[in-house]
Amino acid sequence: MTAITKSVDLDRRGRVAVLTVNNPPVNALSQHVRQGLRDGIGQAVADPAVSAIVIACAGRTFIAGADITEFGKPPQAPSLHDVLDLIESSPKPVIAAVHGTALGGGLEVTLACHYRVGVKDARFGLPEVKLGLLPGAGGTQRLPRVVGVDKALGMMTSGDPIRADDALKSGLIDEIVDGDLTAAGVAFAEKVVSEKRPLKKIRDLDDKLAAVRGKPEVFANFRKSIARQTRGFRAPESIVKAVEAAVSLPFAEGIKRERELFAELMSSPESKAQRYFFFAEREAAKIPDVPADTPGKDIKKAAVIGAGTMGGGIAMNFANVGIPVTVVEVAQDALDRGLGVVRKNYEATASRGRITQADVEKRMGLIAGTTDFNAIKDADIVIEAVFEEMPIKKEVFAKLDGIAKPDAVLATNTSTLDVDEIASATKRPESVIGTHFFSPANVMRLLENVRGKKSSKTAIATAMAVGRRIGKVPVLVGVCHGFVGNRMLHQRGAQAEKLILEGALPHQVDKVLTDFGFPMGPFAMSDMAGLDVGWRIRKGRGMKSAVADRICELGRFGQKTGAGYYRYEAGDRTPIPDNEVEKIIVDVATTMGITRRPISDEEILQRLLYPMVNEGAKILEEKIAIRASDIDVIWVYGYGWPVYRGGPMFWADSIGLRALRDRMLEFKKATGDEFWTPAPLLDRLANEGKGFVNA
Ligand SMILES: NC(=O)c1ccc[n+]([C@@H]2O[C@H](COP(=O)([O-])OP(=O)(O)OC[C@H]3O[C@@H](n4cnc5c(N)ncnc54)[C@H](O)[C@@H]3O)[C@@H](O)[C@H]2O)c1
Repeated sequence: MTAITKSVDLDRRGRVAVLTVNNPPVNALSQHVRQGLRDGIGQAVADPAVSAIVIACAGRTFIAGADITEFGKPPQAPSLHDVLDLIESSPKPVIAAVHGTALGGGLEVTLACHYRVGVKDARFGLPEVKLGLLPGAGGTQRLPRVVGVDKALGMMTSGDPIRADDALKSGLIDEIVDGDLTAAGVAFAEKVVSEKRPLKKIRDLDDKLAAVRGKPEVFANFRKSIARQTRGFRAPESIVKAVEAAVSLPFAEGIKRERELFAELMSSPESKAQRYFFFAEREAAKIPDVPADTPGKDIKKAAVIGAGTMGGGIAMNFANVGIPVTVVEVAQDALDRGLGVVRKNYEATASRGRITQADVEKRMGLIAGTTDFNAIKDADIVIEAVFEEMPIKKEVFAKLDGIAKPDAVLATNTSTLDVDEIASATKRPESVIGTHFFSPANVMRLLENVRGKKSSKTAIATAMAVGRRIGKVPVLVGVCHGFVGNRMLHQRGAQAEKLILEGALPHQVDKVLTDFGFPMGPFAMSDMAGLDVGWRIRKGRGMKSAVADRICELGRFGQKTGAGYYRYEAGDRTPIPDNEVEKIIVDVATTMGITRRPISDEEILQRLLYPMVNEGAKILEEKIAIRASDIDVIWVYGYGWPVYRGGPMFWADSIGLRALRDRMLEFKKATGDEFWTPAPLLDRLANEGKGFVNA
């Protein structure tokens, strides 16, 4: 065996040369891998004893993509393009032998090979779209030639990998092999040589492209089919354009077009934001004083207190990953109702074909309902999701304290209450932590883990690890009213209410946010959540919200009553602007002595989002969030902030903090409202010409 570079070896097995890439953890296409492939192919081609070449990988996967640490740095030779040209033009057949995942540049390597084989659990995908990019090393030109236009478009615009059986069916791989992969690759290569099979260069294939040539409707239909879920993103459209080029241009020109489109995307604000966010999400897992190797508690059994809206969803998360979970309720009927909802949710997923009926039963079998609190005694983590009332929470935690295992983690799903006060109801406040799930708890990816003053490192490490295990994106925050997400949302809500009194209407405000990229605006969101909840809380606390109260007094509680800030046709959730609501708004404004005026969309956007950024600055100063990018992760995963705008703090940086701060001061001058006072951190960074993310 010869080492070509530090990550690529060349070996001979009879007349077959085997190039093995070994660049842990995922065999990324770093410079030394590209060089190793280039030089290794060169040596094998030059060696008269070699008749065929196999490319395989050591470790747990085939090449799983580019080396993202090289992003944004000057390119280092050889380029992947040059390596792929060399592979494809090799006079000796080159066979890719795939295990694990062939992703991105890794799949593009296989597409330059003449044949591809893979093990049965291998996966194949081009996920560049998730970073706002397109496959830039021939993927957009070669993939449609081998799997057809529709399939290639689907794979590249979703970024989702396909399984080996699908890859075989669509022609992406030539064979599924078992046993030792390298040996199987070598055997396949032997077959190619002895049967004198041709050098199959994908660049020369045309039949699958010819099938759609002169049929622009194929692309028109595809564009229509992805319009909704790709709204606001730039890369999907560039991918479609690149595939159009594959169909209409010769290969070399198609490659040129792919490069142009790739370069455009690379410098686009959308991709910059998405690449930033990719790292932000990984960064959120790091807690400075709780290093990654801090032992957490192994969760073999969980318990959830309360089978309401949140409790049921939280329990589903555990059952979904095979962890048995006990759900405790006060009364049997509440328990039956709660578990009934859980079953209905699973049945709905099964009816859409996403899980089998057997899965439904298996998961329901992992959820044990009871009204006996003692049933939590062997749980490793208990998550409380009872009514949002401090005395009830404290009573529950005092009870838990007496029953739970000494080393169990005791978590609360409170969204507004003080986690430290809840912890004080126990004799083990170090075991208490907040796990703030978002609704619907079985769907939403965000988990705000709330660190109490006394939360132990074990409790923190456990909450972070269990969050990841149940498929969430956990972000650690500190104790304050509303934590990070809702505290910022509150600022936005306050302005939304003012805006409708000053002259805007709910649908104008909502449209500004949906145009920005949010799935929904604040008024449509309130209608969906139900207006009665807030109304009841306000009444209980002697608070008022002039317009919302009037709307609720009419029995308009939102979607569930067919009317709220909007009206709804029966069986339809489309919000329809309602003159009645406009009358109420105008009426309330008049009584309050407000002269309504036209408000521009620009002003609406600034007034809704700048206060959020300002609150984010306060949150950072108070060390409620560890870093600005954590706030962005919270807003993207918890509130639908469009990922192609990075998150509120990244977005603020892209506007420029000086401009943002100065605009706040203008609002302050115009209204005399202290609300618009810039946070000291915002003010300082603006003066220093810095940003939050790169402070
Ligand atoms: N609904 C949301 O969108 C949302 C989002 C995040 C967090 N939360 C928080 O989650 C918690 C639960 O909210 P929810 O919306 O699920 O409320 P819910 O009213 O739907 O459910 C609460 C459940 O707790 C049960 N319960 C009350 N006291 C109990 C006790 N002593 N022992 C056992 N069960 C008891 C009730 O019977 C009820 O079924 C609250 O703290 C809330 O602030 C809610």
